[in-house]
Amino acid sequence: MNRSKVLVTRLIPDAGLDRVREACEIDLWEDELPPPREELLRRVAGKDGVLSLLTDRVDDELLDAAGPQLKVVSNFAVGFDNIDVPALTKRRIPGGNTPGVLTETTADLAFALLMAAARRIPEGVDYVRDGRWKTWGPMLLMGVDIHGATLGIVGFGRIGREMARRGRGFGMEILYHDVHPASPEDEADLGARRVDMDELLRTSDFISLHVNLTDETHHLIDADALRSMKPTAVLINTSRGPVVDPEALEDALRANEIFAAGLDVTEPEPLPADHALVRLPNCVVVPHIASASRVTRDRMAEMAAANLLAGLRGERLPTPINPEVYE
Ligand code: DGY
Repeated sequence: MNRSKVLVTRLIPDAGLDRVREACEIDLWEDELPPPREELLRRVAGKDGVLSLLTDRVDDELLDAAGPQLKVVSNFAVGFDNIDVPALTKRRIPGGNTPGVLTETTADLAFALLMAAARRIPEGVDYVRDGRWKTWGPMLLMGVDIHGATLGIVGFGRIGREMARRGRGFGMEILYHDVHPASPEDEADLGARRVDMDELLRTSDFISLHVNLTDETHHLIDADALRSMKPTAVLINTSRGPVVDPEALEDALRANEIFAAGLDVTEPEPLPADHALVRLPNCVVVPHIASASRVTRDRMAEMAAANLLAGLRGERLPTPINPEVYE
């Protein structure tokens, strides 16, 4: 029997890759960097399935290059703003993502960034490494308090709610903004109060972003939003880079209009090492690693493989991003 031909656009953990290898003829792009566009378009031709990453644009051009035999696109990420979903759906191709398994790990990293930015941990590490630590200093590297502060969560889905849980552990007051209100039970459980965006920006000490990237959320945090924040506010972004206007953020941080920012995602991504946001002492930037724990990446690989293999067998994907293809 002919084995399905699949393209896997980067090395992923064996927990998923081995399953794909067992069942399919696999074309694996092994470089650390994503395949250049031309290479991606060349390699996808004739494939029955694609296991893509958030760095691969899946659009009409790629789907046409693949050919009419393509049965499934499985994204190794919960976010799928790299995929033109209508382009998949109009071809009746199911797409899959990896929701759920990375929720807590991502919230952990968001909270780690919050703490690092608030208490100036990277600056402290540099201070010691640079040999500047000569004595205990009453004025040295003073940050802002986390306990008892107000945490404003923008986007109250799975990850936003886990962020709330972490904030509660630190005795924080939790505000959230989301177009969909949480149930009264969930609000009570998480001690969270829904407010409009304006109130959240004005009254929060920490603002953590957990929205999908859409036309509505593109540059949601712009110069006006930053100006509404307290001068002691800390902004955390673990959602998608373009939710924050990078130039406005740079201006706000330089002018101390806000206290600090912690970014796991940026625009552009990656940021060059000489970019102002990387160099500013009150900005903590890490390279999109929120879901990067070993256990979580294994689970994401398992889920991505399960979606891919289900699609190849013509079965419903366990976690489809376009369930309308089954209607
Ligand atoms: C996702 O899954 O969307 C993250 O950004 C990477 O884990």
